[in-house]
Amino acid sequence: MKPVAIITGASGGIGRGIAELFLSRDYQVVLHTHQKPESMTLLLKQFPPSQGVVFQGDLTDKKVTEALALKAMDTFGRIDVLVNNAGLKMDGAIDEMTLESFNRVMDVNLTSIFLMTQAVVPFMKKQRHGSIINLSSGIGYQGRPLNVNYAASKAALIGLIPSLAKELGPYQIRVNGVAPGLIPTEMTSYYSKEEQEIYRETVPLKRLATPLDIGKAVYFLASDEAAFISGQTLFVNGGTQTH
Ligand SMILES: NC(=O)c1ccc[n+]([C@@H]2O[C@H](COP(=O)([O-])OP(=O)(O)OC[C@H]3O[C@@H](n4cnc5c(N)ncnc54)[C@H](OP(=O)(O)O)[C@@H]3O)[C@@H](O)[C@H]2O)c1
Repeated sequence: MKPVAIITGASGGIGRGIAELFLSRDYQVVLHTHQKPESMTLLLKQFPPSQGVVFQGDLTDKKVTEALALKAMDTFGRIDVLVNNAGLKMDGAIDEMTLESFNRVMDVNLTSIFLMTQAVVPFMKKQRHGSIINLSSGIGYQGRPLNVNYAASKAALIGLIPSLAKELGPYQIRVNGVAPGLIPTEMTSYYSKEEQEIYRETVPLKRLATPLDIGKAVYFLASDEAAFISGQTLFVNGGTQTH
């Protein structure tokens, strides 16, 4: 039986890298997108029709997260892996950031993880099997100017991941995180080529990560190769930042 994964934000830069890897390695996948279902349908055309479905919705809405979990169950009959990858960045100075911007980033980056996890856990508990991987960020640990909302939403995962791992471990559900450094995607498109080059110089491995680099780390944590790893966050940043 092929394992089943839900990947949120699969239409984004990193999410697509994760999705392509899972699909090419024989997972059955629910590809979630907020606004770009066509790109997901196109991606699925490269694989056998039974291997994936697309689900569109705003994950800050509990009805949507519940519907996404049900879509996976109705289509594939089980949920082995949840990748909470969808995210949002809305930078601003503390004296200019609106409450709406602060709350929106917290809702998309943190509340949606709470809601998605709540939606899949009852099924994983019944299966007594599951792996949940949350996309964190080095910014949640180091901080970054103009990133109070984003950094706070990612720093919250420092508490969420080990707490959930301790709570769900007895059900054989593992919970981990992957914290990338800078990756050129729509989210980071405000970085100029010069700024990317300055960042690249600080990376010990002397290159920027690709979405596939992150996909491989997520795939490893999802797999049985990581059967005794839970409550951890893996930093995938070429050695820039260590914990
Ligand atoms: N890029 C980096 O340098 C970097 C570094 C560290 C961590 N990360 C983390 O990695 C994850 C992916 O980032 P990325 O760079 O791939 O970003 P991205 O290209 O901007 O993609 C973001 C994804 O999240 C989805 N999304 C946005 N708002 C949503 C909402 N309200 N409900 C549901 N989905 C929503 C988007 O859907 P649509 O495409 O349909 O709009 C898209 O699929 C994020 O959690 C991010 O914080 C990124």
